[in-house]
Amino acid sequence: MTTSNVAAIILAAGKGTRMRSKRAKVLHELGGEPMIARAVRAVAALHPDPIVIVVGHQAREVEAAITSPRARFALQEPQRGTGDAARCALDQLPANFSGDVLITYGDMPAIKSSTLRAFLDAHRKRGTKLSFISIILEDPSAYGRVIRDAAGSLEKIVEFRDASPVERAIKEINTGFYLVDSALLRSALAELKPANAQDEYYLTDIVAIARARREKVEAWVADDPAEFAGINSREELANMEAEIRAAVNRKLMQAGVTIVDPATAYISEQAEIAPDCVIGPNVQILGACKLGEGVRIDGTAWLSNVTIGPRCHLKLGVRAEDCVIGEESEIGPFANLRAGTELLGHNRIGNFVETKKARLGRGTKASHLSYLGDATIGADTNVGCGVITVNYDGYDKHHTEIGDRCMVGCDTQLVAPVKVGSDVYVASGTTIIREVPDGSLVMSHHPQREKVGWMASWRKRHNDSPDGSLRRKKEH
Ligand code: UD1
Ligand code: CA
Repeated sequence: MTTSNVAAIILAAGKGTRMRSKRAKVLHELGGEPMIARAVRAVAALHPDPIVIVVGHQAREVEAAITSPRARFALQEPQRGTGDAARCALDQLPANFSGDVLITYGDMPAIKSSTLRAFLDAHRKRGTKLSFISIILEDPSAYGRVIRDAAGSLEKIVEFRDASPVERAIKEINTGFYLVDSALLRSALAELKPANAQDEYYLTDIVAIARARREKVEAWVADDPAEFAGINSREELANMEAEIRAAVNRKLMQAGVTIVDPATAYISEQAEIAPDCVIGPNVQILGACKLGEGVRIDGTAWLSNVTIGPRCHLKLGVRAEDCVIGEESEIGPFANLRAGTELLGHNRIGNFVETKKARLGRGTKASHLSYLGDATIGADTNVGCGVITVNYDGYDKHHTEIGDRCMVGCDTQLVAPVKVGSDVYVASGTTIIREVPDGSLVMSHHPQREKVGWMASWRKRHNDSPDGSLRRKKEH
């Protein structure tokens, strides 16, 4: 079925008092993004145009969280109920719009677009002027009740607060998702009166209004109540986060990824993880990470927007952000790969090495205690223990370049901007301050001197014995 000629209204003006937050409820995050973004995405899959989002509390921040090009915003101020909110949205629909209007909530982020599509198809197949989604709940709590006549046809929705005991016993409830012919919606909303327990304009009243006009009205009973779970508190937020996470893990395991401890695997929905990867305990894989086949992560890692080639091994304690790690590299333990790190493959980054905007050619290694920032290093170069690029002069960052097949000795400082050619041997402890040509040995040692017998005279000056035993005795 075609989805043309649908507009959408997403209600998101409420404050969400039970969140106990200064932030608007719909800005609280689920799966690494504001919940409103998820609610909008599910609706956007039906290609409605426009998507009108009713904002109120923290309107500007909510608007900033939405990227859909078809989004428009309606400000509802003050918030006088769901009917009032829908009425505010009408101004953002083109005056000549004559299709169906889908109405949803910004705080129900578990809804699936496939469910919305099935709802739309049913609405169109039945030729209904007004449909809404209902569900059957064993514990219908404070939801609006769906009232039907003896023949089972729809009469109205009654809010819990306004419901009689008999009505409260009804288990079919209103989810708050509607499809309404736009002309009917406009005229029904104009008729709303705040004659209820909350003195609010209830969107739910459009059902009784449409029935009174003998329009065709239907409730579409959805099978999975979980999709209509709203977020009202931090606890509900955490529970939904856990469900999203469990679903991601399940899907990955089905696709051939080993997750050693799913309870401590925090993997984003956008992550692409190839078969035969092994994810150890306490691992966060955030944003758009891509892991090639057979990547092993031993445990305790934080990865955000990282592309990792096949068969890489991340040992305990790797933090990596916005970078590329080429195939068969070995990273960690305790390595920090900052934004702009690019390892071309078969690299080794060992313990206490930090890289930033650093491009390392194939086979190049930095195994211990280094800072490589704003650097380009060729292939098969060995960066010794304690090598540091001195990239910052207090005002600007400068670039270091090192060629292929170099041996950069331990404790070398490269004062950038500086260039070291290929096949260079840097003696340990060298401070490189100017360009080193290909094939050279470079050193900046102070000459080594020895004073034979100096230790004994040093001890004597301190009234110690020649082997220093008096001082050692005092210490014990
Ligand atoms: C509403 C329905 C109820 C249904 C329930 C499902 C009404 C009168 N009742 O009740 O039948 O069972 O949803 O969850 O519609 N909002 C605004 N502006 C307002 C008021 C609300 O934008 O002035 C937004 C909220 O941000 C929220 C949504 O509308 O996203 C629902 O509002 P809420 O107050 O939670 O409605 P309920 O009382 O739960
Ligand atoms: Ca609610």
